[in-house]
Amino acid sequence: MSEIHSDLSATSGGDLALTAPITPRRSTAPHNRLAPHGAATVLPSVLGCRNLLKSYQKGSLEIPVLQGIDLDVRQGEFLAIVGQSGSGKSTLLHLLGTLDRPDAGEVYFNGRRIDNLSASVHDELRNRGFGMIFQAYHLLPELTTLANVLAPALVAESTLGYWRRRREYRQRARDLLDLVGLGHRLKHKPRELSGGEMQRAAIARALLMQPRVLLADEPTGNLDRSTGESIMRTLVELNRRDGLTIVMVTHDPWIAQQADRTVQLVEGRIAAP
Ligand SMILES: Nc1ncnc2c1ncn2[C@@H]1O[C@H](COP(=O)(O)OP(=O)(O)OP(=O)(O)O)[C@@H](O)[C@H]1O
Ligand SMILES: [Mg+2]
Repeated sequence: MSEIHSDLSATSGGDLALTAPITPRRSTAPHNRLAPHGAATVLPSVLGCRNLLKSYQKGSLEIPVLQGIDLDVRQGEFLAIVGQSGSGKSTLLHLLGTLDRPDAGEVYFNGRRIDNLSASVHDELRNRGFGMIFQAYHLLPELTTLANVLAPALVAESTLGYWRRRREYRQRARDLLDLVGLGHRLKHKPRELSGGEMQRAAIARALLMQPRVLLADEPTGNLDRSTGESIMRTLVELNRRDGLTIVMVTHDPWIAQQADRTVQLVEGRIAAP
């Protein structure tokens, strides 16, 4: 078993993490692939969108969800997006994070338009530009906590590249797990962790590749109040102490209050403050 596979130790099969990555495996490529594609607009925000439109088709019925969203997220900001269930919060977060494409409008990251880039550049952006956490954690069940946190590096690097930087990645993964209070659970599998611990592991995984923005979709949605509060304290600390930019979707007013700023989605638009 190779050294890389040994980082995925305690899996049911050593190849699993390499064949079932969080995002599709890609070749290494420099960041300048994210060059503007003829876009004249340059936004000052780290992440933003202009006149974003998105509908879903349900049979012959068109369901308009986002009907012209303009948003700017400043570097170092902690932004909460709130709104009723079905108001389009997750849809908006997915468009900002290139998990989906808008019907019309534009998404900008670091001042560059990104919604119209290729799927492989979107893969790269999701691997290195954005960290993402979700209500359901999405840890790989066969992997240990440490291997789950290392998974984005295995996606990002070639076999040789990972081999060369393995020590650095492992140290960073351990440091991040310490940071989120999970340093004593490195060898546990997800089923051996509590919900709060799984979300902490997911936060550490989201931060491994040192993203510029953390996108969080209902990160406390599956947790009891006090566990949710402790996850929020961790996110607030990452924002205040380390300057991490966070965009978080929530329907919980108390959770939203922890952010610097809240925007509300109503009928496909951002409500006036
Ligand atoms: N793939 C899809 N196909 C069809 N309709 C969809 C799809 N995804 C979302 N929708 C619809 O789009 C609307 C917005 O969904 P979205 O998941 O963005 O809402 P939300 O604000 O995140 O809700 P919640 O708070 O319940 O998570 C909903 O009416 C939903 O039914
Ligand atoms: Mg949602």
